[in-house]
Amino acid sequence: MDSERLLSELTEFLRIPSVSTLPAHDGDCRRAAEWVAAELRRLGCRDVAFLGSDTHPVVWGVGPEVPGAPTLLIYGHYDVQPPDPLAEWTTPPFEPAVRGGKLFARGSADDKGQVFCLLKAIAAAGRPPVNFRFLIEGEEEYGSEVLFDLLKREPSRSNADVILVADMSYAAPGWPAVYTMLRGIAYFEITVRTSKSDLHSGEYGGAAPNAHEELCRLLTRLKSEDGKIHVPGLYSTVRPPSKKELAIWKKVPFREKEFLARRVQAKALTGIRGRSVLERLWALPTFEIHGILGGFTGTGAKTVIPAEATAKVSLRLVPNQKLKTVVRQVGEAVRRLAPKYVQTKVHFVHGADPAVIAVDHAAFGLLDQAFKEVVGRGTVQIRAGGSIPIVPALAKSGAPVVMTGIGLPDDRLHAPDEKLDLQQLWDGIKVFRRFYELLGAVRAV
Ligand code: BES
Ligand code: MN
Ligand code: MN
Repeated sequence: MDSERLLSELTEFLRIPSVSTLPAHDGDCRRAAEWVAAELRRLGCRDVAFLGSDTHPVVWGVGPEVPGAPTLLIYGHYDVQPPDPLAEWTTPPFEPAVRGGKLFARGSADDKGQVFCLLKAIAAAGRPPVNFRFLIEGEEEYGSEVLFDLLKREPSRSNADVILVADMSYAAPGWPAVYTMLRGIAYFEITVRTSKSDLHSGEYGGAAPNAHEELCRLLTRLKSEDGKIHVPGLYSTVRPPSKKELAIWKKVPFREKEFLARRVQAKALTGIRGRSVLERLWALPTFEIHGILGGFTGTGAKTVIPAEATAKVSLRLVPNQKLKTVVRQVGEAVRRLAPKYVQTKVHFVHGADPAVIAVDHAAFGLLDQAFKEVVGRGTVQIRAGGSIPIVPALAKSGAPVVMTGIGLPDDRLHAPDEKLDLQQLWDGIKVFRRFYELLGAVRAV
């Protein structure tokens, strides 16, 4: 493997600031799609197409046809999350830099580095006898609307014997993982309005309602200090993990103390008491505030009573919860919890159902074997706290969705100094190369 060349190619991909949620980066998203398309053509794809959008196209590809061989659909995303706060990056997010064997850049682990890994493993395997299909999208970090619409119009695009998603991490260093669940998500903007316009805080303060104050109270009513979410009906379908699953989780090297000190890097963990951290991360819904807008936040001081305030929030959903139901429940809860004199608006931004994947198909055995051969340990079955909106739709095709990845738990996805350990990448190329070879050796999977 020519690691110098591979590193410079990945660097080129990571330099493109393909932030899907910011319209200013539409052109960059398009450029990232073009980078992916050029790679697919180099791999000998017969058909490479941009589908569904000019600015955030789904990159579709069909590899060389191998009669009788199994079809593997590779899913990934070329878009990334916004890089702010910029001042907290050691080196700029879109100027990839290697330090101590780690490649630092936005998208290095999530998900450009992993897409790169899956593609380079095909070349490394010397065109294995597998019918490759590709769906590499550019809106995963913003709800995957383009791909949802595409699969609704043309469900056959997801036809395959096996679907491979590498957008996650090992369970711990040296512990490759395969995922049995992804949480769903429901993202909202909650706006409160308390008066016709802003008011002088001296003239009116003490007698007039304040939008920020009302919003804060509403938010703390929605989730109390003990971690409970007060949305009526929200927990009614939530089930604790089975004994069998809990027994598997026990084997994963996860220590709450280390999680707090090394990964969260805070003074204490919060959340529902009496439930383990893994249960809180993998088996319970959440409510998080992402940002609050409104009022005066400029430099200096302005004495004003804001008339309007908006919070960006999201809930994570676990198995048996339905996005549709939760959207309705949240709307009702906000209406119920706000005082009569406050006008509220709940705007649904994007969302996804949780995904549950049975990992009993033969393809999971092949991945397990590939990891065993290359890194010396097979896959542990764990859940993910994060979401990949399109996975439930991909699973509807009937093909097993193999969810795995080459990241490590401390890759700092969506945060400053996101990184990918280069050894994970080099190992990953060997692992997927072996996986393709093993899959190609099977005639009927
Ligand atoms: N790769 C992540 C999802 C993920 C993270 C899976 C950690 C497993 C472990 C993905 O790119 C992601 O961040 N998804 C968003 C989706 C949302 C914006 C609709 C997420 O989970 O916030
Ligand atoms: Mn991702
Ligand atoms: Mn992400």
